[in-house]
Amino acid sequence: MENFTFYSPTRFVFGRGAELRAGELVRSLGGTRALIVYGGGSVKRSGLYDRVVASLQAAGVGHCEIGGVLPNPRSGLVYAGIDLARREGADFVLSMGGGSAIDTGKAIALGMRYAGDFWDFFCGKATPAAAAPHGVIPTLPAAGSEGSNSCVITQEDGMLKRGLNIDLNRPLFALMNPELTFTLPPYQTACGIVDMLSHVLERYFTDTPDVDLTDRMAEALMRSIVAAAPAAMRDPADYEARATLLWAGTLAHNDSVGVGREQDWSSHRIGHELSARYDCAHGAVLSVLFPAWMRYVYRHDVMRFAQYASRVWGVEMNFAHPETTALAGIARTAAFFASLGMPRTLAQLGADEADIPTLAAGVVRAPDGTCGRFVRLDTEAIEAILRLAAQSDGEEAFK
Ligand code: NZQ
Ligand code: ZN
Repeated sequence: MENFTFYSPTRFVFGRGAELRAGELVRSLGGTRALIVYGGGSVKRSGLYDRVVASLQAAGVGHCEIGGVLPNPRSGLVYAGIDLARREGADFVLSMGGGSAIDTGKAIALGMRYAGDFWDFFCGKATPAAAAPHGVIPTLPAAGSEGSNSCVITQEDGMLKRGLNIDLNRPLFALMNPELTFTLPPYQTACGIVDMLSHVLERYFTDTPDVDLTDRMAEALMRSIVAAAPAAMRDPADYEARATLLWAGTLAHNDSVGVGREQDWSSHRIGHELSARYDCAHGAVLSVLFPAWMRYVYRHDVMRFAQYASRVWGVEMNFAHPETTALAGIARTAAFFASLGMPRTLAQLGADEADIPTLAAGVVRAPDGTCGRFVRLDTEAIEAILRLAAQSDGEEAFK
């Protein structure tokens, strides 16, 4: 296990009615006027918005609002939100919705305390010194933004989708009511399941030795997600399945299963290029890319892939031929994503194979020019993964 610092200042309030505590919590954290940030309107249709505004009013907290955040959230609304917060004298940011609304709120909170362009933080020109206080009400178990140190925004000037990982991004509170996720359509539920599993997988495949504790926590998390998924897909109002997924999405990405180990993150990096170029859902992109990445890298540590297959998917260990076990685990992963109705190929994402060189060239790299840590991918390797992702299930290349 490597040395680590784990910082998670977020107060998580979980269960039915959690959102009703918004006013009291904003007030207790010194907020007098909250900027409410939300997406395309699901929070209004579900009644969440009205309940939260009533809770703020009851606590004597004023509010202003900015709605219309799009999936793969863009810089324009962040600039508008920072301006609005300044004009209205907002001293607190309250975001509700999916990861896109929450990430927009995070970026606004950083920009409110900075005289320059908030994008400076995302392109490495400046490091944030402060953020406005920020609380969140997640309605989609997926990105895990409610507990993460990440914020992912697309700069419209050049359509660059970039992430910023810093302690200041962790929200002060997250009000998590599983009932708020009942209105999710099956497609969004499935995208969320793929995303949270991917957050565990990005951490699970590591070269760091002696990480048995976090391995087993990660495996338990993945098994619970896989077990709850069909029930939530079948019955959108299955409270227990929704509750499991909501909390699993947080644990998958607050880094409790990632501490003390080197993490990979190349599938996310490559995925951001696809989302930025074709504006497709983050989870759908990962459904295509993760199995392709696995097929490309598994020979790097066949035993780790065999462990994954056996402990997460119950594949019987073939000690004479562990590669068979490893490949069965990858096939089970891809089949699980497909069982949720998620895409398997680049074409199903609306992506064009001819774009592969451009996509690969755009992927954010480490200073040594590679992407990922489990296997350090150069441009040729990224292109090869994208070509595998273009095939129906990539198996042909590995027969
Ligand atoms: O906009 P509204 O009307 O709210 O509808 C949204 C949106 O259309 C809808 N939705 C959300 N909750 C709902 C609901 N519809 C009905 N009922 C509900 N309860 O779902 C659609 C997708 O929402 P979005 O916020 O885009 O999805 P998600 O939560 O998957 O967030 C994706 C974004 O987060 C980033 C992704 O890259 C992407 O930009 N990520 C953020 C991370 C982080 N901050 O830690 C980590 C992730 O790896 C990821 O990169
Ligand atoms: Zn993700």
